[in-house]
Formats: sequence, C-alpha cells, structure tokens
Amino acid sequence: MGSRLIGYGSYLPEKVMTNQDFEKIMDTTDEWIVQRTGMHQRHFAAENETVVDMAAVAAGRALENAGLTIDDIDMVVVATTSSELDFPSVGVQVLGRLGATRNQPAFDVRGACTGYIYALHCARAFFAAGMHQRIMLIGAEKMTRFLDFDDRSTAVLFGDGAGALIFEHSSSGYSGIIDTVVMADGREFDMLHGTPDHKISMNGPETYKKAVTLMPDAANYIMEHAGITASNVDWIIPHQANLRIIQSGAQRLGFPLEKIVVTVDRHANTSGASGVLALSYALDNGIIKKGQLILYPAFGSGLTWGAALIRV
Ligand code: ACO
Repeated sequence: MGSRLIGYGSYLPEKVMTNQDFEKIMDTTDEWIVQRTGMHQRHFAAENETVVDMAAVAAGRALENAGLTIDDIDMVVVATTSSELDFPSVGVQVLGRLGATRNQPAFDVRGACTGYIYALHCARAFFAAGMHQRIMLIGAEKMTRFLDFDDRSTAVLFGDGAGALIFEHSSSGYSGIIDTVVMADGREFDMLHGTPDHKISMNGPETYKKAVTLMPDAANYIMEHAGITASNVDWIIPHQANLRIIQSGAQRLGFPLEKIVVTVDRHANTSGASGVLALSYALDNGIIKKGQLILYPAFGSGLTWGAALIRV
C-alpha cells in the first residue's frame, strides 16, 4: 500500500532572534555561533504562544494547500517533545482547534529531534496496514521553553516552529513514504536529555561525534534496503542541528553540498519540527520539485536516530 504527499504547510513565529541579539544578553559572539553551528538567527515564539498554537497554524496551512478540511483527515500524528500540557496530546488539541467532528484518532510521538522520522514510521505502518486513507503528520516545538540563558553552550542552538504534511493512501503503486528506519540506544541517555526543571543537559562534543556517524549510517542503511545509491537521491534533508554536522554527513555519504536542504542558518534546531519545516520550506520555495526523491536522516536525544526515504 503506497501513499502520496498531497499537502504541506509550516509556521514560524514572528520574533527573530539574531546572533547579535544573543551578544547583548550573554558572553557569546556572532562569529563563534556562525563558525561552530552555521546559525545566524532563529525564531522565538511569543511568551503566550504554545506548541498547539503553532501546530494548528501549520496544520491549517497544510489543509489549505491540499484543498481539504480537518474532517477529510483520518488520523493525526504529532512529533513534539515540548508540549506545555502533559495531556491531552497536541494532536487531539489540534483536532479541537480545527473543529474536527469525526472522532478521528490523534496522538503524539516523543522522539526528540528524531520525532518526525518516528512519526513517518508510524504513518508508513498505518498505510501498509491499509488502516487509514489520509494521515496528517505534524512536527511542532517550542524549544525556547527549555532554554537557559545562563548556559551559552545550549541557548543559542534552538528555535521554535511547526510544519505539517498530509499523506494520502495510493493504490497506484506510487510510494510517498517509501521506507523508514528508526533506532534508539537508551544507554546514551547522559549525552543529551531534558532535566526535571525543564532545561537541556547536553555534552555537545560527544553529541556531535555521534551525530556525524549515526545520520550517515542511517542514510546508508535505508539506501541499501531500498537498493539505491546516493546518485539516485535528489535531495537530502538532514536534521537541522548544526551546519558542520550536515556538511560532515554529506561528505561521508559522498553527496554534493548543493543537494542538501539547509535551514539551520535561519531556523536553528527546531527538534521534532526540523525536517517537516525544512521540507515544507523547500517545497514552498521551489527548491524541491514534485516527484523528487528525498533522503531524510535524523538523530536526537535518547539517543534516537533514523532515516526516511520519501518521494514528494
Ligand atoms: N559562545 C561562545 N563560546 C561558547 C559558546 C557560545 N555560545 N558555547 C560554548 N562556548 C565555549 C565553551 O565554553 C568552550 O570554551 P572553553 O574551551 O574555554 O571551555 C568552547 O566554546 C568550546 O566548547 P565546545 O563545547 O568544545 O565547542 P564545540 O566546538 O564542540 O561546539 C557545539 C559546541 C556547537 C554545541 C557542538 O558541540 C555541537 O553542535 N554539538 C552537537 C549538538 C547538537 O546537535 N545538539 C542537538 C541534538 S538534537 C536533540 O535531540 C535536541
């Protein structure tokens, strides 16, 4: 059972936080941030703006893009780790915001920065089981909820935003979500995790080392599984954590940098929203064209990592 991408949308909060803005509030420099991360700016949600607010706008835009209403959607899966409320799920709240009346299921997936690959994995499984006709996949994060402006090594790395994709079942043999692979290693908990007081504990250099091997490993695994090589892939959309990680991964895969979608310079790391936002951005700006093959590697807290192969 195949699927087809039929709609996409995204949302970025109005407030832009530049590296120069950080220079004013902490001991850092634009030069350090650009050199170590490739980031120039990121979007920060307003204080009263929630993950659900952002998710609902992105979802509304995706529905508009697809020419559908929420009641045309059979299931909503949201990748998020930063919801303000422990319950109900962001997915159910989005259904409420958009006025759904069909009692369709909705739930959240907590996979940190790999969350959207875990969500794609779920969507692929539901399509394969023939259980749903249309699935909306949302990635939405308010990472600023976790930022500690006394910790310069993590505060500059993250941003807020949301993206949404709508996939429809296809019996024509066309495959939107061609393949997915997700992995986790709980023994690496200490490397990167949230704390009980809602902060980020991260060993940056160790996380970096893992990221530059795990993302290419997942990418290679999924290409091998699909029987293709990097030359068959039109674009790679890596998790947008750090430009140096992205460049190093591309080098390991022998993939030209011009074929890598990069948004980390403007959006920074939006965790579970990152890949969905980047795909939406690339489609909106005509960078990625209909029918192209996208390789989607990601990694994050857990550790978790994985990859997806998508034809848009
Ligand atoms: N401005 C200026 N100096 C800084 C800053 C800053 N914002 N942050 C740290 N420094 C300093 C450190 O204090 C240190 O100074 P010292 O040598 O005097 O002690 C120096 O810069 C070097 O610090 P390192 O941590 O070794 O710097 P590194 O080159 O490793 O870069 C970075 C740090 C950018 C965090 C890098 O390690 C990285 O990107 N790691 C991966 C992080 C990541 O991707 N995290 C997200 C994972 S996804 C998820 O699930 C959330």
